[in-house]
Amino acid sequence: MDQLELMRSRLQSPLQIGSVTINSRVLQSPLSGVTDKVFRRLVRRYAPVSMMYTEMVSAAEMHHLRRLPEVMDIDPDERPISIQLFDCRPDFLAEAARKAVDQGADTIDINMGCPVNKITKNGGGSSLLRDPATAIQIVEAVCQAVSVPVTVKTRIGWSDEAINAVEFAQQMAAAGAQMLTLHGRTRAQGYTGSARWEWIAKVKAALDIPVIANGDIVSVDSALRCLLQTQADGIMCSRGTLGYPFLVGEIDHFLKTGQRLPAPGPVERLQCAREHLIMLWEYKGVRGIRQARKHMAWYAKDFLGAAELRDQLCRVDSVAQGCYLLDEAIAQLQDSL
Ligand SMILES: Cc1cc2nc3c(=O)[nH]c(=O)nc-3n(C[C@H](O)[C@H](O)[C@H](O)COP(=O)(O)O)c2cc1C
Repeated sequence: MDQLELMRSRLQSPLQIGSVTINSRVLQSPLSGVTDKVFRRLVRRYAPVSMMYTEMVSAAEMHHLRRLPEVMDIDPDERPISIQLFDCRPDFLAEAARKAVDQGADTIDINMGCPVNKITKNGGGSSLLRDPATAIQIVEAVCQAVSVPVTVKTRIGWSDEAINAVEFAQQMAAAGAQMLTLHGRTRAQGYTGSARWEWIAKVKAALDIPVIANGDIVSVDSALRCLLQTQADGIMCSRGTLGYPFLVGEIDHFLKTGQRLPAPGPVERLQCAREHLIMLWEYKGVRGIRQARKHMAWYAKDFLGAAELRDQLCRVDSVAQGCYLLDEAIAQLQDSL
């Protein structure tokens, strides 16, 4: 058996996250401003059994506003799904986690990777990498508050001078985390440069709980390279899914069957953009149309005239206008076939 087949056979069994069994080793990442109910529904169509994540939810906001934020609105048929929370106060996070379980979350994920200043200056997201004592208290408090598995998503360190992925991951596991997702960049890198999968390999080798690799997984090929290099228990797709909700399903299909699905062409992608626009309008009204602009632009790439179409889609302010532009582009593409 060659290396690839060995790796595929290693990943045929389900992903076990504590008491929760997931029949796929490919996960859709939490993406703030992207992975709402509409986006998740599209991803789910191609990846029926994969784990989805909500956008990150502020535990402090939940505590102070005393109402459930829209991002926690999940449907029973969306499972398996994890609700991701952020903050640095163990009691707020425990309280939010209980509400998340009431909403139907299969697992609770704690965000310890967000690099955004607004979050880190308040002690949340990736700043927890510099404060492991608080991170430990958070995991312990949330584990005590809920009976579903608690997981952590983090980065390899704060900066090149402070890479602490292995030690930090071990501390999270010892505190009770049942799975760790590692984005192979430092906080200082933000979203630039390459994900350093070699650090994911080191963390995987040091942990007994499942380790999920994240960062720069944009295709079946990059997924396979990452899995071979890291020996991770699964992978999480992020920016590769922007304008491409097919990705998680494509990789999952390859891991299960060894066969590549035919890649959707521009027509199929624009048809998906049209559907995405209509669904966002139905779910969020005018606000949904504004949000749909960036999504439609992400779908419109890799064909002649794509740049001009993107420019127009970024200014759409009604469903009719968006559908008109997309229908025209689809017709032109079909004529040129
Ligand atoms: C627009 C955007 C929003 C994101 N929102 C979240 C989030 O809410 N929670 C989180 O843990 N990570 C978030 N991330 C980080 C991604 O989940 C992922 O870790 C990162 O993009 C690295 O993977 P990639 O190189 O494949 O994109 C976000 C990233 C982007 C680009």
